[in-house]
Amino acid sequence: MRAPTWTGLLSALYTFLIAAAHLTSAWPNIPFRADGRWIVDASGANVTYVGVNWPGHGDVMIPEGLQHTSVEAIVSKLKGLGMNAVRLTYATQMVDEYFDNGEKDVSIETALVTALGKENGTKVLGQILKNNPEFQASTTRLQVFDAVAAECAKQEIYILLDNHVSKAGWCCTPFDGNAWWGDVHFSVANWMRGLTFMAEHAKSWPALTAMSLRNELRQPYTNFTFAQEAYNWQNWYNHSKLGASAIHSANPTPLILLSGMDSSTQFDVLVDGKPLSPGTEPFNRSAFAPGFSDRLALEMHAYSIIEKVTDCSKFEEKLQNQGFSTLTQPAEAQYPLLMTEFGFAQDDETWRTDVYATCITSFLPKQRVGWFIWVIAGSYYIRDGTQEFDESWGLLDSTWENWRSPEFVENGLKKMIRETLEAVQGGKGKTEDGQGQTPPDTNGAGGSRPTWCLLAALLFGILCVW
Ligand SMILES: *[C@@H]1O[C@H](CO)[C@@H](O)[C@H](O)[C@H]1NC(C)=O
Ligand SMILES: *[C@@H]1O[C@H](CO)[C@@H](O)[C@H](O)[C@H]1NC(C)=O
Ligand SMILES: *[C@@H]1O[C@H](CO)[C@@H](O)[C@H](O)[C@H]1NC(C)=O
Ligand SMILES: *[C@@H]1O[C@H](CO)[C@@H](O)[C@H](O)[C@H]1NC(C)=O
Ligand SMILES: *[C@@H]1O[C@H](CO)[C@@H](O)[C@H](O)[C@H]1NC(C)=O
Repeated sequence: MRAPTWTGLLSALYTFLIAAAHLTSAWPNIPFRADGRWIVDASGANVTYVGVNWPGHGDVMIPEGLQHTSVEAIVSKLKGLGMNAVRLTYATQMVDEYFDNGEKDVSIETALVTALGKENGTKVLGQILKNNPEFQASTTRLQVFDAVAAECAKQEIYILLDNHVSKAGWCCTPFDGNAWWGDVHFSVANWMRGLTFMAEHAKSWPALTAMSLRNELRQPYTNFTFAQEAYNWQNWYNHSKLGASAIHSANPTPLILLSGMDSSTQFDVLVDGKPLSPGTEPFNRSAFAPGFSDRLALEMHAYSIIEKVTDCSKFEEKLQNQGFSTLTQPAEAQYPLLMTEFGFAQDDETWRTDVYATCITSFLPKQRVGWFIWVIAGSYYIRDGTQEFDESWGLLDSTWENWRSPEFVENGLKKMIRETLEAVQGGKGKTEDGQGQTPPDTNGAGGSRPTWCLLAALLFGILCVW
C-alpha cells in the first residue's frame, strides 16, 4: 500500500483545522466575559443582547403561554423579530419544592392544579398538552424549562436565567416579602441553594450565557425595623458576593448580573467608587469575584410607573447618574450594563407619543447596551389571583398569536433591534426588515400608577426612586 503524500497529509490537516476553527467559533461561543464596558464572546468579538422577558416565576412556576401555543412557536416569534435573547425567569420556590419532594421535581399536572384549582388546572393542562404534544401530565416543571432551553439553542437564542422571586407569584413591591435577603419569604439559605441548583442544572443548556443574582432588590417593608437595619450597600455586597460565588462554583460559564438597589435602579456606589455604607470600603471587583471578576455585568431597570417621565433629557441624565456613566468612566469603573426590564402599554399610541417610551427606545441603541423588553406574555396562567390575566404590556395579544401592537413591533421594536445590533456587532445578526421611522418626541398621556409606593410615601415619607 502506498504511503500518503506530504501534500495529502497537509491538505487533510488544513481541512481539519478549518473545521476545528469553525467548531470553536460556533454559536453561542461561550463563555462571554466583560472587556471593560463591552461583552465579548469566546472568540473576543463584541456581542450584545436584544431580547424579551419570558416569565416562568408565576404561581404555576413554568414559562407562560403554553396553554395558547407551543414552545417552538413562541421562540419563533421572537426569532422572527431578529431578537437574539430571552430573559427567562424562575422562582426559588420551584427549587425548594424539588428538595421538599425528596429531590424529585413536581409534575406540571400537580403544579397547575395547585395554582389554578382542580377544574381549571386540569383544563389548562389539557390545553398545554394539546399545543405541546411532547409533554405529558407527568412532565416536570424543570423539564418544561429544559424544553424551552433546547428550543432556544435550536433557534440560537441566548438565555439569561433570572432568579426573579423566592415565593412564586407576581412581583415586585416592597411589601411582598420577596424584597431583600432575610425578608419574610426570602431565605438566604434557600436562595443560595436555588442559585447553585439552577447553575448546575442549566449546565446542560447550550444557550445559557448569563444568570442573575436576584431581580429588583428593594426595601423590605414587611418589617420597618428590619428594613432600617438591613437595607444597605454593605449588606448588598455581602450577600451578592455569596450568590456570585455560589453560581460561579457550580457553573463557571455564565456571566453574573448584579442587580442594583432600589429595584435595580441604583449603581452609583459601584460606578463612582463610593463607600459601601455603613462601612467605609468601596466596591472591590477582584475581592468580590476572586478569579472571575470578568464575569460581572450590571442589570438595570427603568419604568415610568412610580414617577412618570415627562422630560426625555432629564430622564437620560437620571439614567446616567444611576449607572450608565459606567460606560464612559475610566477603565476601573467600567462594567457592561444591560437594561433587563423596561416596557409600556402595547397599544398603537404609547410607543409613538409617550415621552418615556420614545425616550428609552432611542436611548438604549445609542448607548450600545443590551436590553430585554417587558414582556412577551399576552396573558398569565394566573396573576394576583386572576386566572388568564390579560397583559396589556404584552408584545403578544391574549391569544399569543398576534402582536398586540403591530405598529410598534414593525416600526419601533424592529428598528431598536436593528440599531442595537448594528451599533455593537456591526450588524451581525441584524433583521432584514423593520425600516421604522424615528418616533416623534412629543408629550403623551397614560400609564397606570400602582398605588403602593404613593401610599407608602404618604404614610412613611419614603422616597419612591425610579
Ligand atoms: C467593540 O465595539 C467598540 C465600539 O465599536 C469598539 O471600540 C471595540 O473595539 C469593540 N471590541 C471588539 C473586541 O471588537
Ligand atoms: C377558571 O377559568 C375561567 C376561564 O379562564 C375563569 O373565568 C374562572 O374565573 C377560573 N376559575 C377560578 C376559580 O379562578
Ligand atoms: C422585625 O425586624 C426586627 C429586626 O430584624 C426583628 O427583631 C423583629 O422580630 C421583626 N419583627 C417581626 C414581627 O418579625
Ligand atoms: C458584611 O460582612 C463583613 C465581613 O464578614 C462584616 O464585618 C459586616 O458586618 C457585614 N455587614 C453587614 C451589613 O452585614
Ligand atoms: C481589591 O482586592 C484585591 C484582592 O483581595 C486586593 O489585592 C486589592 O489590593 C484590593 N484593592 C483595593 C484598592 O483595595
